[in-house]
Amino acid sequence: MKRVAILISGGGSNMVALAASMKGDHPARPVLVASNEPSASGLGRAQMLGLPVVAVDHRAFGKDRAAFEDALAAHLLLARPDVICLAGFMRILTPRFVERFRGRMLNIHPSLLPRYPGLHTHARALAAGDAEAGCTVHEVTPALDDGPILGQAKVPVAAGDTPETLAARVLAREHLLYPAVLRRFVQGDRTPVFL
Ligand code: GRF
Repeated sequence: MKRVAILISGGGSNMVALAASMKGDHPARPVLVASNEPSASGLGRAQMLGLPVVAVDHRAFGKDRAAFEDALAAHLLLARPDVICLAGFMRILTPRFVERFRGRMLNIHPSLLPRYPGLHTHARALAAGDAEAGCTVHEVTPALDDGPILGQAKVPVAAGDTPETLAARVLAREHLLYPAVLRRFVQGDRTPVFL
């Protein structure tokens, strides 16, 4: 049975979708939910699901990113994950940390990469007049939102869409895409999923 750790910073709806998918004949189980935000509501949701949780407050380390990452990595290594899923984890990880977990760390991003890496993806898609938006699951590499794509889901942009209404429709697709990619990835299958 493969072991999956999930990193969050906020509400954790993707974490819930991932955890809910890892049941029955699924070849993996969640073993830890970690957050850089002790007040993240997703930690409470993870506890409700009976999952081990830990918070490593990045503020306690000031500008010392390496020290924060070492503290986080110590908890991760204790959990012995085969795969780490970034799910709304909002800290940019240094190349040093990424190299430690290279090839077994995934991220979900709310745009059709390579379009709109970074923040405010829905507002940028609307401002550009795009006809479609979506989300991407990719392998994490040292360059932000840049690794090999493992899956994408598209949604049409509707007349009158705001960043909030578009984000809500994309989030619903994220909850389908991420579990589908994870199920393949934990079995060593990197064939992209397109929804
Ligand atoms: C998602 O839209 C994800 O793509 C982005 O942050 C949001 C997190 O949502 N990186 P949640 O915490 O999983 O609900």
